[in-house]
Order: sequence, then structure tokens, then C-alpha cells
Amino acid sequence: MAKDKTHYSCTECGGTSAKWLGKCPHCGAWNTLIESAPEAASGATKNRFAALAPSSEVMALSDIEASDVQRTPTGIGELDRVLGGGMVEGGVVLIGGDPGIGKSTLLLQALDALQRQGLPAPGAAGPSQGARAPSGGSAPRAAGQRRGGTLYVTGEESGAQVALRSRRLGIEGSQVQVLAEIQLEKILATLAARQPAVAVIDSIQTVYSDQLTSAPGSVAQVRECAAHLTRAAKASGTAIVLVGHVTKEGALAGPRVLEHMVDTVLYFEGDTHSSYRLIRAIKNRFGAVNEIGVFAMTERGLKGVNNPSAIFLSQHSEPVPGSCVLVTLEGTRPMLVEVQALVDNGGPSPRRLSVGLERDRLAMLLAVLHRHAGVACMDQDVFVNAVGGVQIREPAADLAVMLAITSSLRGKPLPKGFLAFGEVGLAGEVRPAPRGQERLKEAAKLGFSVAVVPKANAPKKNDKAFEGLTIHAVERVEEALQLVRSLD
Ligand code: TYD
Ligand code: MG
Repeated sequence: MAKDKTHYSCTECGGTSAKWLGKCPHCGAWNTLIESAPEAASGATKNRFAALAPSSEVMALSDIEASDVQRTPTGIGELDRVLGGGMVEGGVVLIGGDPGIGKSTLLLQALDALQRQGLPAPGAAGPSQGARAPSGGSAPRAAGQRRGGTLYVTGEESGAQVALRSRRLGIEGSQVQVLAEIQLEKILATLAARQPAVAVIDSIQTVYSDQLTSAPGSVAQVRECAAHLTRAAKASGTAIVLVGHVTKEGALAGPRVLEHMVDTVLYFEGDTHSSYRLIRAIKNRFGAVNEIGVFAMTERGLKGVNNPSAIFLSQHSEPVPGSCVLVTLEGTRPMLVEVQALVDNGGPSPRRLSVGLERDRLAMLLAVLHRHAGVACMDQDVFVNAVGGVQIREPAADLAVMLAITSSLRGKPLPKGFLAFGEVGLAGEVRPAPRGQERLKEAAKLGFSVAVVPKANAPKKNDKAFEGLTIHAVERVEEALQLVRSLD
């Protein structure tokens, strides 16, 4: 008889080990192994991925009918944008973010908007799937309930708290169905009985299953519960949104396995002190990744910002040293973001700090500056910050970061209406950014007057769209610095 032995699983990759180790043998992360319940305790664990996609016969690819997914727009434009057009039947969305950033608020607003559309039960035309109630849970509540619509499962707040929030959002008369429950089996039973079109589980970390002995919120629990819910979504056609907490390091708590299981992963960004919030799609089986939705947190919930190009610029009446604007283009929408740098006398081991930008990239840029342009910051503290709590991940920010640093070092502001973008390579070359023309058009539209861009991004012909914008093309870092000095 096989003995149930506890094992250790990695919170990063979900890999397992029979004994505790300081370093995960699978992904090499340190101190991530934690004790968890035996894997094969229940039969359910065996076919964890069994129902993620319906099984079918072997067929030639050309014979398989490509069906476009049916999307239901939530009616919240910025959310639909990151979702790739709306909720998909049977689709599972994982939405992560810091506490207090607005996950519950947004989802309640979205559910209310969806509810007002009067959503029918998924596959309403098809055969009834009511018989799918899983065993082990409580019996479905009274039969003959209305099907379709929306369901908000809250594990963190009581129903009364959710109601209070809805008052605040001004959606008192809302018909969104609320269930305060954290036990997986009961949630599954309710889903099966009610067949909502869209259900939100707020949050996945509070859900636990009786079948597992490990504590709620542990890796094993989160993974198992998410797998069960995903399977339920695929089987019934209910679209499920899982809310996930984010750890201090900025990753969704729980194993990465969670990200693999779901169809779409969205992250909330932005600092809780500013009123702007960004939602980024980092994985989307039904749409583009890196698409960004922009919201402002108001007294009455989150409001979409339709034209966010310039909200991440701080308002200086006159240019100040250490500030450079760049155009980022993540997803389909160009946005102007201000990068600030402060270079100051440091101690024996100077600090390099970055907020919203990668620190390793900063170290690399400082090395390139030194080797290729002779600008040394060895004895200086260097701080860089992307204004407004934006996270900039694309390397096209390199040139702007570099120019902000040199501007701070020299104590000389960049000219008024100045912007720059372009990737910087280790050899000191300035590489083109994707879709440079679109970025330049956006800058011209907003009245910027001087741009320093990679050579390949400079427009070939004179275009009306760039009117008022003087575009300088550069190939090398030293060239860019020289050019900026000539603009003083
Ligand atoms: P919440 O949605 O509870 O965050 P999460 O679920 O991600 O933890 O966000 C709550 C925050 O938003 C809280 O600090 C108060 C603020 N808020 C507003 O500013 N306006 C509103 O209308 C609401 C409902 C919340
Ligand atoms: Mg919440």
C-alpha cells in the first residue's frame, strides 16, 4: 500500500521534491519549497489537466473547423480592451494585483454591467448540463432557479461589505448574485446549479477544498482549487474570473502553474497613491498580450480613461534636469511616459535604484554610458523612476533613461517639448523600437517639438502627421549625447 507522505513543493514553479531543500531543483529559486499535502491523495489530482480542453479524435488540421470564440463585452471599454474584446464562454481569467488596488471594485462593476445585459446561461440552446453537479458538495439549492446572469463569490468580504461597496459604486439595484463562500465543493455546486454566464471568485487564495489537508492559501490548495474551477468552466461554459493576490516580490502568490492553467492573465499596475490604475494582459489565449487598460479610481469606483497618452507626464511649467519623456507602445496604444533620474554623490558603495524600470537594465545602461560615451557615475547614487507608477518593460525606454541620467548629472534640463526612445545595445548602438512612426505621430499630436530616435525609426518622407516635430535620428549613444548638448 502506498503511504501518503508529505512532500515539498515550490511556490515559484510548482515543482515537487521529497525532502526540503534550500534551492528548488526544478527552477533553481531559493527558499521557495514549502510543505504540502500528498499529491495523489485524491483521484482528482491525477487528471489535473484532463478537461482543460475537450478531447477529440486525431484529425488533419485542415479538417478542423476554426470557430471564432464568442465574446461578451463587459461594457467597460478598458477592461474589454485587455480581455481582447470581452468575456469568452468557458474562458478563465486570472486577475492579480496588490491589495487595495481595485480588483474587487472593478469586478463588481463589470459584473453589474454584464448583469444588466441579461446574460443567458452558457450554452442555453444546447442540452441541459444541470446534471454536472459534482459529488461531495452540498446539494444544489432549490431547483428551478433562474439560470444565466452573474455570480460573485466572495471569500474575503461578507455579503454586507459587498453591498456597502455596491452602494458606493452607485449600483444599488444590482441583480448580481452574491455568494459568501470559501469551500470549493459548495462553490462548484452553486456554479452547477445556477449556471451563471460569468462568475467571479474573489479570491482564489481563500478557497479551500476538504479533500486536501493542507491549509487554505497553500500552494497545493490554490492549485487544486483553480484546476477544479477551470475544469468546471470548460465543462459548463461559464466564464470564470479568479482574483489572485500578489506577493511582495510582485508575483501572483501560488505556483506559476496557475498561470498555465488559465486562458488569460491580467495584472493591475500603478501605485495605490496615484489615482491611475493600469491593467495589463500578460497572457491571453483570446487576444493580444501587453495590451493595457487605463482606469482612474474615483469616489464612485473605477472609470476608464479613453485617451491616456499624456496622464503619465508630471506637469513642470519649465523643463527640469533629470527628466525625459518617452513614448511607450505596449499593446496597441502609444503612451507618453516621463522618466526621471536623480544622480547624486554616493558613499563608498553607491546605490542604483529604479522604480517602474528594470534595475539590471539600469546597471547595463550605466556601463554603456561609461564605456561608449565616457560618462562615469561610479561614485554616484543613481535613482530612476517612471512617473505615475507605470511599469515600463520594453527596452525602447533605454535612450530616454540614459538621457535623463546625463541630464541630471549635468544639471541641465532637456529642451522643452523633448522626447526620446530607442533600445540601447551593449556595443553602444541605438536600435529601433517597434512601430516608431506610430510613436512619433502620437508625440506630434500632443505638441512635442523635438525627438531623438533611432535611425531606422526616422520617417523617410515628409509626413503631415509629424508637423511641428523636429526629428533627429541617431545611430550611437555618443551621437545622441552630443546632439543633446548641441540643443542646450
Ligand atoms: P478594492 O477593490 O477593495 O481592492 P482589492 O480588491 O484589489 O484589494 O479597492 C479598494 C480601494 O479603492 C480602497 O482603498 C478604496 C478605494 N475605492 C475608491 O476610491 N472608490 C470607490 O468607489 C471604491 C469602491 C473604492
Ligand atoms: Mg478585494
